[in-house]
Amino acid sequence: MSWALIPLTDEQRTIQAMVRDFAREHITPCAAQWDRESHFERGVIDEMGKLGLLGMMLPEAHDGLGLDTCTYLVALEEIAAADASIAVAMSVHNSLPTQMILRWGTEAQQQLWLRPMARGEFLGAFALSEPEAGSDAASLRVQAVREGDHWVLNGVKSWVTNGGTADVIIAMARTDTPDKRRGARGIGAFVITPDLPGFKVGKKEDKMGLRASPTVSLIFDNMRVPATNLLGEPGSGFVYAMQSLDNGRLGIAAQAVGIARAAFEHSARYASERKQFGQSINQFQGIQFKLADMATRIAASRALLYMAAAAKDRGGSNSQFSSMSKLLASETAMWVTTQAMQIFGGYGYITEYPVEKLFRDAKITEIYEGTSEIQRIVIARELYAQS
Ligand code: CAA
Repeated sequence: MSWALIPLTDEQRTIQAMVRDFAREHITPCAAQWDRESHFERGVIDEMGKLGLLGMMLPEAHDGLGLDTCTYLVALEEIAAADASIAVAMSVHNSLPTQMILRWGTEAQQQLWLRPMARGEFLGAFALSEPEAGSDAASLRVQAVREGDHWVLNGVKSWVTNGGTADVIIAMARTDTPDKRRGARGIGAFVITPDLPGFKVGKKEDKMGLRASPTVSLIFDNMRVPATNLLGEPGSGFVYAMQSLDNGRLGIAAQAVGIARAAFEHSARYASERKQFGQSINQFQGIQFKLADMATRIAASRALLYMAAAAKDRGGSNSQFSSMSKLLASETAMWVTTQAMQIFGGYGYITEYPVEKLFRDAKITEIYEGTSEIQRIVIARELYAQS
């Protein structure tokens, strides 16, 4: 079934087919088990690395594929349709740490980290949130103090995707001093590696959905970070994080579209097979209307996502489109998976069938990388800025 409003190029179709085949072979058969066991095999990341899926937007000079944002999102949707847990690992890695090092890293930092990241040998993570700093990210408290040629970091980061398994983590920490706080302008971005003295992995969260994706807290206990690991300017880390989330949110929107599409496809198939009152339930207009609305909302989410991706690649600020895209796609994923469960009836509610997992996985897309309420704030602020 093809319902892309914006036609894909031949190259994008080839990549889409390649990633779909890969996902069907290497991810779909394992997804339910990984969900039950709350982990995934690192081998799948290695395989994705070999295909170039961990360096899709990195230049070829850094062993990346040098592709545009839309092509990356087409691939990400395919992974998400197979398993949203693997998709978030891919999204965070491609959208946040790799792009931050590419954009603000020195030549030496890029040489050190980007090639192994592009090949999937190093998995990336992004540590912004803290137990007391979620939506109000600029209120973060992890403190960095300069001591000679090191920074010493103390505090706790929370909700870190890939955290326990990541090899390269971009962590935001305060670089201002307690006697001279500078708010959002007193935060730096540091490249953290797990071998640093004082780095500890904290609690692994027991989540409702995305169970195979490890979400952990990180503890920095007098962690000594070489000064050469600071990205860019010491007071610009929050702005880097926000600019990066403009891209990250597109990844989460693609993940949401993938979840919604999978729920739709399962529902359409089930509705043609399931018989009640002497006929397939897809013969009932009540079910047809549900499927029509699901397909319409998914198509609209994908169209806005591709538009936002094109806006990003044209340059300039893409905050508003990115937030609109994440908002629409994540609320669509939640709505579509709810309809899917309704179409499946009791079978939708048991783990033997796929839609209860999709329903559980969809919810987080309305929360992480900025809640739906934060997306509305970003959108509304820009509306007023434009008037
Ligand atoms: N691009 C460039 N600059 C930006 C920007 C953007 N998108 N957003 C903010 N800035 C700049 C502002 O211009 C401002 O700069 P000046 O100092 O020059 O004025 C500075 O950053 C501070 O901005 P605000 O005054 O807007 O900051 P704020 O405190 O009001 O916060 C917010 C804004 C939008 C609410 C922001 O805090 C936010 O996005 N919160 C949500 C946090 C979030 O998404 N967390 C997700 C964590 S990652 C995750 O989910 C885990 C995972 O691994 C998947």
